[in-house]
Amino acid sequence: MAIQDIGIVGWRGMVGSVLLERMRAERDLEGLEATFYSTSQVGGAGPDIGKAGARPLADAYDVNALARHDCILTCQGGDYTKQVLPALRERGWQGYWIDAASAKRMDDDSVIVLDPVNRAVIDRAIESGIKNYIGGNCTVSLMLLALGGLFAEDLIEWMTCMTYQAASGGGAKHMRELVAQMGMLGEKSRDLMDGGDSGILELDRRVSQVLRSDALPTEHFGVPLAASLIPWIDRGMDAGDTREEWKAFAEGNKILGRSDRPIPIDSICVRVGAMRCHSQAFTIKLRRDVPLADVEALIAGHNDWARLVRNDKESTLAELSPAAVSGTLGIPVGRVRKLRLGPDYLGAFTVGDQLLWGAAEPLRRTLNILRGAGA
Ligand code: HSE
Repeated sequence: MAIQDIGIVGWRGMVGSVLLERMRAERDLEGLEATFYSTSQVGGAGPDIGKAGARPLADAYDVNALARHDCILTCQGGDYTKQVLPALRERGWQGYWIDAASAKRMDDDSVIVLDPVNRAVIDRAIESGIKNYIGGNCTVSLMLLALGGLFAEDLIEWMTCMTYQAASGGGAKHMRELVAQMGMLGEKSRDLMDGGDSGILELDRRVSQVLRSDALPTEHFGVPLAASLIPWIDRGMDAGDTREEWKAFAEGNKILGRSDRPIPIDSICVRVGAMRCHSQAFTIKLRRDVPLADVEALIAGHNDWARLVRNDKESTLAELSPAAVSGTLGIPVGRVRKLRLGPDYLGAFTVGDQLLWGAAEPLRRTLNILRGAGA
C-alpha cells in the first residue's frame, strides 16, 4: 500500500517536536499530504511546514477523520494509542500506525522498529501485512545500535547493561526540575563558594541540607536528582527488576527477531543528572574469544552512527559523554576492552541522545521505509 496521505498526532510534545524538526531537516513530508491533529487545540494553527501547516488542527479523537489517512504517526502517548487504535481497526482501517509509545510494542501484531539493526524483520513484517510499527524503548535502541555489529554476528552469549539515564526520559517537566534543583543548590551555597579547601565540608553540609529540605523542587522525580541519582526507573516487576530493566531483555530480543531463543540481558537502570543522553556500561560474555581488533571493527562497521572511541583518557573525555553527544545522531562506543574475567568477556561504554536515535529517528525512517523510499 503506497502512503500518500498522513495524519500526525502528538507533534507538540518533546519527542514530537524533535521528530518534526528531523522531518523538516530531511524533507520527509515532501510529496505527502499531511494533516496535523491535536487532542486539545482543535481548530488552532498547525506547525509551520508549508501548506499542511497552514490548515487548522484536526480533532485527534475523530476516528472518521483519522481513518482517511494511509498512515498515522503518533507521539501522543500510550493512553491515546489504547483508546484510538482499537477504534480505528474495529471500523476496518487498514493503514499503517507508526507510534512512539510503548503500549503496543510487545503485541504480536506489531513490530518494534530500529532499521539499522532489524531491517530484515521490518521487511518481513511489511511483506506479511503487519500494520503497526512501534519505536523501541530509548535505552534498548541505543544499546542495540552501539553493539549492532556483535549482535549481527551472534557473538553475544549474555550481557549486562548498567545505565546512566537522562532526565529527559521522564519528560520535559523532569528536565526542568533537574535544572531547578541544580539552580537551587548553586543559589543556596553561593556564600560558601569562595571558602577554599578549608570550607569544603561546610559547603558539602550545606548541599546535603538543601537536598534533604522541603524547599528543593521534587514534584516530578519525587527525590533529588541533582547531586544525587535514582536507581529505579518505571514500575517494579515480579522478578525484582524494573520495567525499564525488563525491556532490554524483552524488547531487545523482539527487535532482533529472536524472542524464541532470547539472549539473556540483565540491567540496572539508573537516572542521573544528564539532560537528554542515556549512557550505558556493558559487560558482555562473548560466545568465543574474538580478538579485540575484530570486535572494534565489527562495532564501528555495523552502521553509520556507531563510532569507536579510542580507549584513552583524552579521547574518552572529549567524545564519550552526554555533553559531547547531546543533540547529535552519533553513538560513540568507547572503553572497549577485554575484562579480567577472561578472554571472552568484554567491557564497553556508550552514550546516545535518547530523543534522536532513542525516539524520533526510528519513526521517521520507518515512514520512509513504508513509503518505499528507503530509510
Ligand atoms: N523509559 C525511558 C526513560 C525513556 O525513562 O529514560 C523512554 O524510552
